[in-house]
Amino acid sequence: MIQPHDTLPLNRDYTFDMFVRGKNNHLAYAASMAVAEAPGKAYNPLFIYGSVGLGKTHLLQAIGNFMVASGLPKTVVYTTSERFAIELITAIRNNTTPAFREKYRRIDLLLIDDVQFLEGKEATQEELFHTFNELYGSEKQIVLSSDRPPEKLSGLQDRLVSRFRWGLVADIQPPDLETRIAILREKASNRGIHVDDDILELIARRISSNVRALEGALIKAIAHSELQGARLTPQNIEGMLPEEGKREKLTIAHIKDEVAMRYHLKRHDLEGASRKKEISQARHMAIYLARNMTNNSFPAIGKQFGNRDHTTIMHSYMKVKTLLEETPLLQAEVNEIKEGLRARFQENP
Ligand SMILES: Nc1ncnc2c1ncn2[C@@H]1O[C@H](COP(=O)(O)OP(=O)(O)OP(=O)(O)O)[C@@H](O)[C@H]1O
Ligand SMILES: [Mg+2]
Repeated sequence: MIQPHDTLPLNRDYTFDMFVRGKNNHLAYAASMAVAEAPGKAYNPLFIYGSVGLGKTHLLQAIGNFMVASGLPKTVVYTTSERFAIELITAIRNNTTPAFREKYRRIDLLLIDDVQFLEGKEATQEELFHTFNELYGSEKQIVLSSDRPPEKLSGLQDRLVSRFRWGLVADIQPPDLETRIAILREKASNRGIHVDDDILELIARRISSNVRALEGALIKAIAHSELQGARLTPQNIEGMLPEEGKREKLTIAHIKDEVAMRYHLKRHDLEGASRKKEISQARHMAIYLARNMTNNSFPAIGKQFGNRDHTTIMHSYMKVKTLLEETPLLQAEVNEIKEGLRARFQENP
């Protein structure tokens, strides 16, 4: 039996069955499944990262729930890095550090959520380092999550970060429109409610970067229609969608400002003719994003980058596109810029 250690409970709804797969989370899902089926063997540790509300906790707990459901005498501990830190501090204060160590070093599956909060916590990192070594050495599975990839965890000891990368690092990206609709359909049907496809699509178009917000909008819409005894229609749903739906539409000017800010440049540097490396690289990036995130054509983009010819624009776009395929670090960078924009503006579908 699973020993009910004083540990955070697993949410029963966070299972693999309830997790909708899409291009955005395919690797993280497959890796989690592999780890659940062969803990300590497939990928150890598994490190899942992605931005807010994209399913990291869901996947971690799905692995835990899977092991619990197997009925094997395994000990699963799900915790957050913050809670791990608090437990350690309490143990030190109460002179119960040996018991704390004993607990964490005798488990079969350790799930640690949100390790970005370990930044700057030296004693906790030290303890986790030893826990990690102990568990890893005895082929026990470790799964970690974070809002960014290991190499971006700047306040963490190098030896810890390097261990985080020993196994597999898998990212979760924001879901595309199709996946967002599929998620909404799944969430509605879990509640035993049928919602028409056009309504699902409307919500999915409005909320693009956070599955939690997507789910929240659906629940709100359902509640409204139930309270008012009215059918959900595109018209009556308009008014109840949250802020994100009312955000300003993303324009090329927004992209230029965001990119300029990130690279410490001015908007007119991106529009101008300078061939300085930092400037032309940032310009390529802004052009790529303009094409990737808005509905503007190459000629239309050219007009907004100092009246450049559409072939020049296309060249910049292709250049970044190719580079992205070869450079994961650049991918991460582009994703960060995109996230920043999506957090404030409504991206074109
Ligand atoms: N692919 C998916 N299929 C079904 N539900 C999903 C999916 N992705 C996320 N969710 C749901 O969205 C909500 C938020 O997910 P979760 O809490 O796992 O995100 P997170 O990445 O841990 O976010 P945070 O960074 O805020 O901790 C949960 O209710 C989860 O079930
Ligand atoms: Mg989470």
